[in-house]
Amino acid sequence: ANTGVPPVSSSLAQETVVSDEAVKPALVLYASQTGNAQAVAESLHQSLNTNGVNAVLKSTLELKVKDLKDYSAILVTASTHGEGEPPDDAIEFHEALTSKKGAKKRPNLAGVKHAVLGLGDSSYEFFCQTAKDFDAALSASGAASLKSPVLCDVDYDDDAQAWVNEVTASLKDYFKNLVGGAGNAAVETIQTQEVSSGVSYDKNNPFTATVETIQRITGQGSPKETYHVEIDISDSGIVYEPGDALGVVAHNQHELVSDIIQQLGLDPEENVIYKDKNISIRSFLTQTAELTLVNKGTLKALLEISPNQQLQKIHDEEFSEFIQQHQFVDVLHLADPTLSAQQLVDILKPIKPRLYSISSSLEEAPDEVHLTLNHVSNRNEHGERYGLASHFLTQDLEEGDEVSIFIEKNPKFKLPEDDSPVIMVGPGTGVAPFRAFLQHREALDNEGKNWLFFGNPHFNTDFLYQVEIQQYLKAGTLSRVDLAFSRDSEEGKKVYVQHKLIEQAEGVWKWLEEGAYFYVCGDMHRMAKDVEAALLEIIQTQGQKSEEDAKHYLKQLKLDNRYQRDIY
Ligand code: 2AM
Repeated sequence: ANTGVPPVSSSLAQETVVSDEAVKPALVLYASQTGNAQAVAESLHQSLNTNGVNAVLKSTLELKVKDLKDYSAILVTASTHGEGEPPDDAIEFHEALTSKKGAKKRPNLAGVKHAVLGLGDSSYEFFCQTAKDFDAALSASGAASLKSPVLCDVDYDDDAQAWVNEVTASLKDYFKNLVGGAGNAAVETIQTQEVSSGVSYDKNNPFTATVETIQRITGQGSPKETYHVEIDISDSGIVYEPGDALGVVAHNQHELVSDIIQQLGLDPEENVIYKDKNISIRSFLTQTAELTLVNKGTLKALLEISPNQQLQKIHDEEFSEFIQQHQFVDVLHLADPTLSAQQLVDILKPIKPRLYSISSSLEEAPDEVHLTLNHVSNRNEHGERYGLASHFLTQDLEEGDEVSIFIEKNPKFKLPEDDSPVIMVGPGTGVAPFRAFLQHREALDNEGKNWLFFGNPHFNTDFLYQVEIQQYLKAGTLSRVDLAFSRDSEEGKKVYVQHKLIEQAEGVWKWLEEGAYFYVCGDMHRMAKDVEAALLEIIQTQGQKSEEDAKHYLKQLKLDNRYQRDIY
């Protein structure tokens, strides 16, 4: 009889797995955008199975809320993005689990255990919101909490590892009790797994590489300052695949550090203690402190030391808007607090590495990593503000300088393994991974067809990689290119990549029906949403489908990994 208990993959697990058919399996469920939450879930799944707990691994994309009742325990890993949004693959599931509308269809989970791990970034207002929502919804459905949700702030490895071990330990006991202690004697101690991507360099142990080229690739007069950067990774042993990202460990700009020191009236050489070590406040601010993102916890701690009405209001009511245009130094300009150097050290958070989609392939450029990035800047009422790593890479560093880097794998953004056709939508710096895709496919003589949709403000100044793209067309590597120069049209009407997609609806549909993979890279707030709407429209009109059927088609594309996005 089909007990609903799927086979387990680990050979150790097969010997020790709880065999009582009455016990429902545990569910390890992940809501993952970039693969981090998935990696932790995979690690927990393996850890459970090697410790004799029968567990099933699923993505939120593959599971219906009503089927949650088929499990004895529900272990969720969930990341949160942007303004508290769930990962793409979890939108539907999240809605069904949390909305009023879905309430009737939700199962009663009395008797089920649950635990939730959140991945997020506390510089955003809705920190780990997806995980918090899942935890609350599971409790509301009657499931009992194994432990309070663990919410990881950017640097998740240690917390995630601890969570995996704790959940494994308590579930192991729980399952043992359920089956009266049977089946499990062989595994007495918890066998732990590393939550790790397997690369030797990471954010805590970056590789010191050399910057070879820093070149502005938008013309004079362009509204964008876009740069092409080449980094030498010879002798590092680093390998990456098209679609992966480069983590850059950047330092703060000297002017910004001086501004902060001056604003607080500190001596730059004053010694402070950070992680049990003596360091000057200037070095701490330059190398260690996150200054370009305002952290809500930092603001709260500052208000406790030095209360200020205006700042309190920003903290309570206007935080999301404030952080769009402001950095930590603006908080000091605004509130003029009294703060010692050590207090400053105690309230600031460590620098977060910045991730950039890699724009080269090792097949074409062995020993190199290329980036395509915008120098981020904006002027507010107190001064000119810059993005941390984009300023560091394009303005502070010079060719020949050293830079600390590591690879961040992106298993959710990968070329097909065969020669399926590929449609790439990458306006602005969103073209980066597609340059890597094209280099890779050309170098490997892949026969698959490739179609690029690119857009930017002006043809004259902003046609990134124009010469290369034209060569790819000539050589046949690119079958088609469609360009949307948004500010060149005469009637003043903006033309965007999604308009080009609609214009080419027939061809896009034909490619999709031939098995094409559809990729989107770039702005998540507007572009990616508009492109998805265009894609749905194409599926609906060209495929002659209802809206519902078109959505279903898109979902199937996602399940088949044929709709992949790298958006930020
Ligand atoms: P704009 O700045 O002229 O509005 C890369 O940034 C390109 O993406 C630019 O041409 C930009 O146009 C365009 N862009 C802006 N908003 C967009 C949207 N919602 N959808 C698609 N492209 C967009």
